[in-house]
Amino acid sequence: MGATSTPAYDAHADWYEDFISAGGDYLRRVHGTLADLLGPGEGTCLDVCCGTGAHAAVPSSLGWTPVGMDLSGGQLRHAAGRLPVARVDATELAVAGASLPAAMCVLSSTDVPDYPAVLREVARVLRPGGRFVHLGVHPCFVGAFADRSQRRSVVVDERYADRSRSFASWNTSGVRVRVGAWHVPLADLLNATVTAGLRLVRIAEAGPDGVPDLLGFLAVKD
Ligand SMILES: C[S@@+](CC[C@H](N)C(=O)[O-])C[C@H]1O[C@@H](n2cnc3c(N)ncnc32)[C@H](O)[C@@H]1O
Repeated sequence: MGATSTPAYDAHADWYEDFISAGGDYLRRVHGTLADLLGPGEGTCLDVCCGTGAHAAVPSSLGWTPVGMDLSGGQLRHAAGRLPVARVDATELAVAGASLPAAMCVLSSTDVPDYPAVLREVARVLRPGGRFVHLGVHPCFVGAFADRSQRRSVVVDERYADRSRSFASWNTSGVRVRVGAWHVPLADLLNATVTAGLRLVRIAEAGPDGVPDLLGFLAVKD
């Protein structure tokens, strides 16, 4: 386990399972965007930072065989009934290089102190032509720097440039006040993807009332 990658979710796993299983528009948006970007295929789709395995049915429905990896034993306890899992640090995946046809990482880019290291590791384990779907909170409109308390507007402040861990959020009952978040600004995210050797193929945004709260992309290992 990386020195700074404490399994913060161990203390919140039962809460997270209830939270994510509640479904609703947000989960429908996550699953629709994920399915759209991943597309149909065969073979293993590694769910990096799989959490409770809440999205395992999406790759399955597209023909993929999902396998999950996460740092939190508490989260994996819930995931184990949904897909095969292993307790592994996403920055040191226990997978042979150039061996996988697909990988995905959902709603986790702000949960690791060094997401570029995860992207490099994903690029290492994908075989040439392998697909990677990143789907996360929108880096421009969700974070400690963004006040989303008004449904049709977002107020972004100077903390956009702050990459340190923050527990601040306009939403006092959500995930971030519990486990914090490491903000990854948009340019950092895209540059880290390209630098890792992943070619961006398609980008997607989604959100309520035209105000995006999700950003995803499909990238391919050349
Ligand atoms: C917000 S949850 C998302 C879980 C799942 N992907 C989902 O969308 O429901 C973030 C997950 O990242 C995991 N995580 C954080 N740091 C990690 C690391 N270094 N390696 C593997 N998993 C990690 C946490 O344990 C947690 O389950």
